[in-house]
Amino acid sequence: MKNLIDKLKKEKILSREEYKALLENRNDETAEYLFAEAREVRHGVYGHDIYMRGLIEFTNYCKNDCYYCGIRKSSASSQRYRLTQEQLLDCCASGYALGFRTFVLQGGEDPYYTDERMTDIIRAIKAQYADCAVTLSIGEKSAETYQAYFDAGADRYLLRHETANNAHYKKLHPEAMSLANRKECLYNLKKIGFQVGCGFMVGSPHQTTDCIIDDLLFIKELDPHMVGIGPFIPHHDTLFKAEAAGTMELTLFLLGIIRLMLPSVLLPSTTALGTIHPQGREKGILAGANVVMPNLSPVGVRKKYMLYDNKICTGDEAAECVKCIQRRMEGIGYHTVVSRGDYKL
Ligand code: SAM
Ligand code: FES
Repeated sequence: MKNLIDKLKKEKILSREEYKALLENRNDETAEYLFAEAREVRHGVYGHDIYMRGLIEFTNYCKNDCYYCGIRKSSASSQRYRLTQEQLLDCCASGYALGFRTFVLQGGEDPYYTDERMTDIIRAIKAQYADCAVTLSIGEKSAETYQAYFDAGADRYLLRHETANNAHYKKLHPEAMSLANRKECLYNLKKIGFQVGCGFMVGSPHQTTDCIIDDLLFIKELDPHMVGIGPFIPHHDTLFKAEAAGTMELTLFLLGIIRLMLPSVLLPSTTALGTIHPQGREKGILAGANVVMPNLSPVGVRKKYMLYDNKICTGDEAAECVKCIQRRMEGIGYHTVVSRGDYKL
């Protein structure tokens, strides 16, 4: 398997059969080899710097009904909230004081945030924090809407494709949603000029190795600036409540593969990874990730943005989360930096 890892490092791509062989025959030894190579590549581009993004979960209203998601439209147990523009700006102010230079505004697909309201928010943040990047993660919109966000000053957009396999996509989403539209959104975002992130859940229900290979091939084709992957974790109020969570082992292996495929990619070590294992986020960094996203949402709403059960970091103030992350990163020989943390060519 080491020859396939060497080939991936050199050529940054494998064939479908080679990915299959690498995934199906992986073991602890090949994983360690992969992680060492991924770290070397990552150190070459980003050194030991860890980029911090301040995550602001500003609405849990959603018009979609993704089967896996704890804030889906039909999730009866979800207590809904939205932050006002003032609350959002307060989050940015405390985040800025803590050293954040990227704010990630994430939420369900909430029609309350019309183009006008959203562009007002983006402009207000950029007016006060001109040295910060604004990342949006608010789902599928028309090309015109994305253009309006961009013109208002938004810099980056995260839209996980969730799975690049059509049949699998249909098993995770209601009829009204389609992989084709998701992909079109990603291509539109790229064309407009956003730094774009796609991604998927590891171990989502009905996912096979072939689905994962489809994901890797799609990621290579899209060539995004960011890739968000984390384990699927069941939520008690969804169709998938009895399904098993994805594993840390496979998530880490895929982080390593993605770093070798896209050496400059901005790759978060996710909260979901930290939820399934106490050292999940550290291990993610050691497998090739270089981004962490501490929560800046007001503590009063944290427990309401429950995408999956037992989500960590729902009780601590932002300052505590930052200190905790900094300690964790220093503990493994890395350091968080005060920087926008843009994609490096
Ligand atoms: N509405 C936006 C969107 O659809 O891109 C952003 C919010 S959505 C909650 C953010 C991500 O959470 C999704 O892309 C999905 O991959 C992840 N997610 C949702 N439910 C999850 C679960 N049960 N386990 C792990 N990740 C989950
Ligand atoms: Fe809309 Fe999860 S179903 S954010």
